[in-house]
Amino acid sequence: MYNLLKGKRGIISGALDQNSIAWKVAEKAHEEGAVFVLTNAPIAMRMGEINTLAEATGSQIVPADATSVEDLTNLFTQSQEILGGKIDFVLHSIGMSVNIRKKIPYPELNYEYFQKGIDVSALSLHKMLSVAKKLDAINEWGSVVALTYMAAQRTYPFYTDMADIKAMLESIARSFGYHYGLDKKVRINTVSQSPTKTTAGTGIKGFGSFYDYADAIAPLGNADAESCADYCITLFSDLTRMVTMQNLFHDGGYSSTGVSDDVMYRLGVENS
Ligand SMILES: NC(=O)c1ccc[n+]([C@@H]2O[C@H](COP(=O)([O-])OP(=O)(O)OC[C@H]3O[C@@H](n4cnc5c(N)ncnc54)[C@H](O)[C@@H]3O)[C@@H](O)[C@H]2O)c1
Repeated sequence: MYNLLKGKRGIISGALDQNSIAWKVAEKAHEEGAVFVLTNAPIAMRMGEINTLAEATGSQIVPADATSVEDLTNLFTQSQEILGGKIDFVLHSIGMSVNIRKKIPYPELNYEYFQKGIDVSALSLHKMLSVAKKLDAINEWGSVVALTYMAAQRTYPFYTDMADIKAMLESIARSFGYHYGLDKKVRINTVSQSPTKTTAGTGIKGFGSFYDYADAIAPLGNADAESCADYCITLFSDLTRMVTMQNLFHDGGYSSTGVSDDVMYRLGVENS
């Protein structure tokens, strides 16, 4: 523990269960001295697991559907009241694709589902930032982090519409990062995370074998949810004050590796 977030106030979205990346971020933020509000879609809260996290971290929960500007306005207003001041950090850890859920192949995407996916997983970041800016709810040098995946840059067939949606999410982080940075010195970055065994992750067709493949390519192996949380904490801290509008890979070196001995060896064994 380094007290990296001592005295900071945050909003953490997306903690569904103990496997969620956001769950680990909340635990680490608590350890590092932050106070924060937890939020998730009202429907996700019915499972009730978030209450355990709230108790463990001394946090309150404010339900908000991230597609609703009204809910988000309430979230930012209430969070400032609960925490006693403006917000220093926000985690956007929200992703959902009905096309993926229903295992619809990319060339045959259902457009209603596609639009729903865009709204939940990408526009929600714009809506959060727009609401926060209107309310002037984030302190100067505040930090916003959204989670993304490398399918925004390279093709992963099974990731279907989420590839395009993540590209949009990363673009929103860049574009809004300019405006919010200029006006209020608020920083906005995306963290591009390794495949991780969570509800959203394991819902993707072929996730298991892809997880092993990525693990065999990355020289450090796949980054887990806990190390992702550590990285997010550094981005919320004052130690990264001048980092903004970036897409930052947190993937054990996967994105920079062309080929690995491990994968070559396995192919060779199978082929010869
Ligand atoms: N798991 C992976 O392999 C992986 C890899 C890279 C990036 N990510 C990203 O990490 C983020 C968190 O996902 P996770 O892997 O922890 O899975 P998760 O399923 O635990 O979290 C996804 C969260 O999104 C929330 N959500 C869905 N619709 C919502 C809405 N309308 N309003 C508010 N919240 C809503 C869910 O309730 C859930 O808490 C997502 O953006 C995901 O795309 C995941």
